[in-house]
Amino acid sequence: MKKAGRAMDFPRGDRTGAWAGLARHFDTSGRTLDLREAFARDGGRFDAFGVQAPEVFADLSKARWDAATRSLLADLARECGVAARRDAMFAGEPINATEGRAVLHTALRAPRGAATPFNAEVHAVLDAMLDFADHVREPARGITDIVNIGIGGSDLGPQMVVPALDAFVHPDIRFHFVSNVDGHDIAPVLRRLRAKSTLFVVASKTFTTQETMANAQVAREWFLSQGGQHLERHFVATTTNVEAAAAFGIDTTFGFWDWVGGRYSLWSAIGLPIAIAVGSEHFRELLAGAHAMDRHFAEAPVGSNLPLQLGLLDVWYRNFHRFPTRCIAPYHQGLKRLPAYLQQLEMESNGKSVDLAGEPLPYATSPVVWGEPGTNGQHAFFQMLHQGSDVVPVEFIVVRRPTHGHADLHRKLLANALAQSQALMLGKTADQALREKPPTAAAGMDPAVIARHRSFPGNRPSTTLLLDALTPRSLGALLALYEHRVFTSAAVWGLNAFDQWGVELGKALCNELLPRFESGDMAGLDASTAGLLARLRR
Ligand code: F6P
Repeated sequence: MKKAGRAMDFPRGDRTGAWAGLARHFDTSGRTLDLREAFARDGGRFDAFGVQAPEVFADLSKARWDAATRSLLADLARECGVAARRDAMFAGEPINATEGRAVLHTALRAPRGAATPFNAEVHAVLDAMLDFADHVREPARGITDIVNIGIGGSDLGPQMVVPALDAFVHPDIRFHFVSNVDGHDIAPVLRRLRAKSTLFVVASKTFTTQETMANAQVAREWFLSQGGQHLERHFVATTTNVEAAAAFGIDTTFGFWDWVGGRYSLWSAIGLPIAIAVGSEHFRELLAGAHAMDRHFAEAPVGSNLPLQLGLLDVWYRNFHRFPTRCIAPYHQGLKRLPAYLQQLEMESNGKSVDLAGEPLPYATSPVVWGEPGTNGQHAFFQMLHQGSDVVPVEFIVVRRPTHGHADLHRKLLANALAQSQALMLGKTADQALREKPPTAAAGMDPAVIARHRSFPGNRPSTTLLLDALTPRSLGALLALYEHRVFTSAAVWGLNAFDQWGVELGKALCNELLPRFESGDMAGLDASTAGLLARLRR
């Protein structure tokens, strides 16, 4: 394996000429860019700011940027060596320097025989895992329920993908995802199961994670207490730690490698529940869609490279506009867990404050990523998006063709998505509101006052990602798009997107606190923790 040296040869964002150029551009025109005026000035804005990638068309014309911004951002990517950093990742250089690891989730979706690292090993495990998945799907096997026990990257990917691909899911098998160490997660699942027709998948890269190990123990005890026979046929593990799985008593294990990050692992054996749900052919389609996006990211020029464009836009928004959050609004109920999945992908990757050399970063990094499917969000937090005091860029994900036959519902869904992005941009002045008939309930109020309540600032940015249909292939492409977008902003910020030291302190303190629940020992605790612990022990 080569050394990760080249990435360090490039400066981080703030040490480039392009950064200074972007700061000037922001001060002169970026800050005040008005989308309504930009569209009025330029009839070709939609075409100029549309980017077609495999399976995904992106409308970036309602983003608060212009051609000059894009050109400066392209300079920024060049100066920061985003392409060289990307190539180092694809080549298997140990770019995850703090853990001394390569980052090769892209190798998991490379076709058989490709000249990519570990191709033979990847396909050997994939073949075995998919054979197993297809076998579990056979009625003769008698499995009606799959319970995935895992957390973080060993949960969120399968938990998000299975409902997203509902139209492709085996009709006679139910899928359950247990992640939380809170017994309220596993208890209601177990209550509905029969031992003889349940398969537990214990999913953990490390096979040491507290929550997963505790839930796996509970599942095993439940299985035996229900008179379950042949435990070895009802528990499988997906892990890099095959020895620990064996020590737990699990014979059937599908392995993966330390160069697969948890939040990038649904393409590996961690995808087993997905493969059981949709079958081997569709799982291969998911991989193929992601691979197509990998090629696009590796080869497309910067202006038409969608992950690059989105990652650079994210930098522009976070460091120049200083937007603190981004809202994900999938207009597809199947994508209801996508915001949670993206929270881990983006915030665990880029929620860092030091650069690769360990120096404090002088700028903001990961935004808060949050959201809910539309139209539900419209009846909850969209009020704030339209009239709140913060500007929140919204990402609409829209699917042209549904897999159901309710055409009228789908037209309404699509009209809502377009209307929201339109409303965010267009807004409504108080004068416009004044000219409208006031609501009857406000008849006694000063019309000018009620008009101010009913006005919208507008000029609120959004992006729209458009898929023709939600299929294994298009979903694979969409998810790989997000992975590479996160990579791009990390490369500009000069941070390591592939470690997660920020989760360690809480884990260590939890291990330290746990025995105190039994012993009542409060020695050395701060007054708040001691006070709360005392109340919990009552
Ligand atoms: O605590 C964070 C984390 O390490 C994630 O990065 C990871 O996806 C999750 O825990 C689960 O880890 P494992 O797959 O090793 O159980």
